[in-house]
Amino acid sequence: MRWLFVLLLWSAPALADDDGVFGSPFRFTETSGASIYTHVCAGCHMPDGRGAVGAAAYPSLADDARLAAVGYPIGVVLRGQRAMPPFGRTLSDSQVADVVDYIRTHFGNNYAPPPTETEIRTAR
Ligand code: HEC
Repeated sequence: MRWLFVLLLWSAPALADDDGVFGSPFRFTETSGASIYTHVCAGCHMPDGRGAVGAAAYPSLADDARLAAVGYPIGVVLRGQRAMPPFGRTLSDSQVADVVDYIRTHFGNNYAPPPTETEIRTAR
C-alpha cells in the first residue's frame, strides 16, 4: 500500500490552483471598443444599444445623457450596478477605456474626449 501513499503525495501538487482557475478568472480578449461591445455588452443592451425589457430591464444606452460625465459609465462597467454585472476583473484598463469610448460615441451619443487608461486605473 505504500505505493498508493507515494502516488497520492506525488499527485498532490495537481490539486493546487496551478492553472489559476480560482485566482485569475477568465479575461476577455477583444481589443476594440466595437468588438467588446458586440461580444460583452450587446447581449443585454442589444446591438443597437436600445436595451430591452423582458425577464429583466436592460436600459437603453442610446441618446443617454448619463454618459456625458465619463466617470459614470466607467464606474458602472468596473463595479456593476444592481442587475448589471461588474467587468473590472475581466476587462483591462484599455478595454474598459475602449468600450466606454465606444458607447459614448455611438447610438446617438457624441461625448468627448475618450477616457484614458489612467482614468480607468484611478477609478478601480
Ligand atoms: C447581464 C446583462 C448586462 C450586460 C452583459 C451589460 N450590462 Fe450594462 N446594464 C445592465 C443593467 C440591468 C443595467 C441597469 C443597472 C441599474 O439598474 O442601475 C445596466 C446599466 C448600464 C449603464 C448605465 C446606463 C444608465 O443610463 O444609467 C451603462 C453605461 C452600461 N450598463 C454599460 C454597459 C457596458 C459598456 C457593457 C459591456 C462591457 C454592459 N453594460 C454589459 C445589464 C448589463
